[in-house]
Amino acid sequence: MKTSSKMPAANGKICVAPSILSADLWRLGEEVHTVEQAGADWLHVDIMDGHFVPNLSFGPSVVSSLNGKTILPLDVHLMVEKPMLFVEPFAQAGADLLTVHIEAKDEIVNTLKSIKNLGIKTGVSIKPNTDPARLEPLLDLVDLVLVMSVHPGFGGQAFLPESQSQIRQVRQLITQSGRSIWLEVDGGINAKTAPLALTAGADALVAGSAIFKAADPVLALKQIRQAAPDI
Ligand code: DX5
Ligand code: ZN
Repeated sequence: MKTSSKMPAANGKICVAPSILSADLWRLGEEVHTVEQAGADWLHVDIMDGHFVPNLSFGPSVVSSLNGKTILPLDVHLMVEKPMLFVEPFAQAGADLLTVHIEAKDEIVNTLKSIKNLGIKTGVSIKPNTDPARLEPLLDLVDLVLVMSVHPGFGGQAFLPESQSQIRQVRQLITQSGRSIWLEVDGGINAKTAPLALTAGADALVAGSAIFKAADPVLALKQIRQAAPDI
């Protein structure tokens, strides 16, 4: 269990979080070191339970294998139906941030409070089609809002252009709250779509296939980071 999170509060910087869902798992350690050296800010770990999304991915043992081996904060995205079952195991495994979905079955305020009580950063995520106004009463409890720009479950999908409107609305809610909250966007991010997310108000970008499936992951990560130099 971490006594505190390695992830800083939102600070106006643009952060890039490679998602290991698209990494070559045979060479996971090497893949992680490559993105560390390329200047990644966080490592995004997608957890899927086969219920909330029609796919399975990693459990807490994968997070604990990364914990202490990488310098990157572990940004753990729970795409699970019953997040309360998993909050403690993933915190114990070394997550720096646990993001849960507002659409999950467990009551969201209780879930966020249990994450906060474990001393790590808390995140809340919305899927495409979820009304961003539902986030407003939760903003006092979170360090990050994650807007899904694809239907969650699989890497390699195309960025949904309509998610720009959700990102803009979330940015407005965060500004109104006066709190330092990251606005992370996840799904279909590459050098072409990163500016769409950033200009709508994102300050953290998840990218899986655009980095790990690229011929040159170091270059791909740099191109995503430099995609919107003027904002
Ligand atoms: C999708 C996951 C994403 C995924 C993104 O459900 O939450 O984090 O890894 O993959 P790309 O960047 O390939 O869309
Ligand atoms: Zn994710």
